[in-house]
Amino acid sequence: MQFKKILVTGVNGQVGHALQQAFAKHAIDIVALDRAQLDLTDISAIRLVMQKIQPDLIINPAAYTAVDKAESELDLAYAINATAPQVLAEEAAKLNARMIHFSTDYVYAGNKLSAYLESDPTQPLSVYGKSKLAGEDAIRATGVPHLIFRTSWVYGAYGKNFMNTILRLAAERDELRIVADQFGAPTSSNSIAQAVLAVIAAWQHQTGTYHLVNFGETSWHGFASAIVEEYAKLKLAPPLKASTQHMHAITTQDYPTPAVRPANSRLNCEKLQQDFGVRLPDWREALIAELQLLQVQH
Ligand SMILES: NC(=O)c1ccc[n+]([C@@H]2O[C@H](COP(=O)([O-])OP(=O)(O)OC[C@H]3O[C@@H](n4cnc5c(N)ncnc54)[C@H](OP(=O)(O)O)[C@@H]3O)[C@@H](O)[C@H]2O)c1
Repeated sequence: MQFKKILVTGVNGQVGHALQQAFAKHAIDIVALDRAQLDLTDISAIRLVMQKIQPDLIINPAAYTAVDKAESELDLAYAINATAPQVLAEEAAKLNARMIHFSTDYVYAGNKLSAYLESDPTQPLSVYGKSKLAGEDAIRATGVPHLIFRTSWVYGAYGKNFMNTILRLAAERDELRIVADQFGAPTSSNSIAQAVLAVIAAWQHQTGTYHLVNFGETSWHGFASAIVEEYAKLKLAPPLKASTQHMHAITTQDYPTPAVRPANSRLNCEKLQQDFGVRLPDWREALIAELQLLQVQH
């Protein structure tokens, strides 16, 4: 391992938690901080922690991720998603350290007809997307050697996410209505963590922005249907009331939300494969692995 001291923020989040577990599995020691140990709205605390711990790699999965709430909490979203990554990057640059940061498909407008490339123009539609893009730009401006991973539709056995919400609703209700005209790749937190570890092992002088999502694509409706289908196949408990034929496809217009979401969230990951030889598994395979983890947790 080329890094002697790795600092990870937001370790109670989906990606932070999966990273912590993946490092532990590989017997790699890290300094893992949750919000109580490092509040990213506190700029002087960020500088102090960086100067005290002196990491040679900072990984920042912490973020303001309440996409709809961000429309009315602009200052907080920018503080956590833009200012904090900037300060982390400035401190990392001073220490000659490197930085890994996470961003989102929501930096794109979603009106491209094919999968997005990292070089495509960004045009976020929401405050969340704008704040995440501002964070990316701020990191680049510091000149710190970095990897920014744009991912999408993050879920897993651990945490608050679409999969766990669908399972809860499908256990309570006979019928569900799910948006079928937004397309992307559900990406499990464990797939992300495993890919990040593989990238770190292969990391030489690459710096820049990379798409990092599970292989393949579906809609939210397709994802919800796969969740209940695979759950039933695994015969997990409790049994669900709603099955795939009770998943009704609706349009984005039928389900208005404060934040506008991109219709096309598909991200082309060839650059990650070319530069690091890393490719994430198919989204359905990753889903089955997360459902099996649920079984273990219960
Ligand atoms: N979730 C998605 O669908 C999705 C999609 C695309 C990209 N991403 C990006 O992927 C990365 C990881 O997302 P995720 O799904 O793991 O997010 P998550 O589960 O919502 O976790 C975010 C973490 O950030 C922490 N946090 C929030 N405010 C903080 C603050 N002021 N100081 C310190 N920590 C704070 C939270 O702490 P608490 O646990 O205390 O609340 C939480 O642990 C983020 O950069 C996100 O923008 C996510």
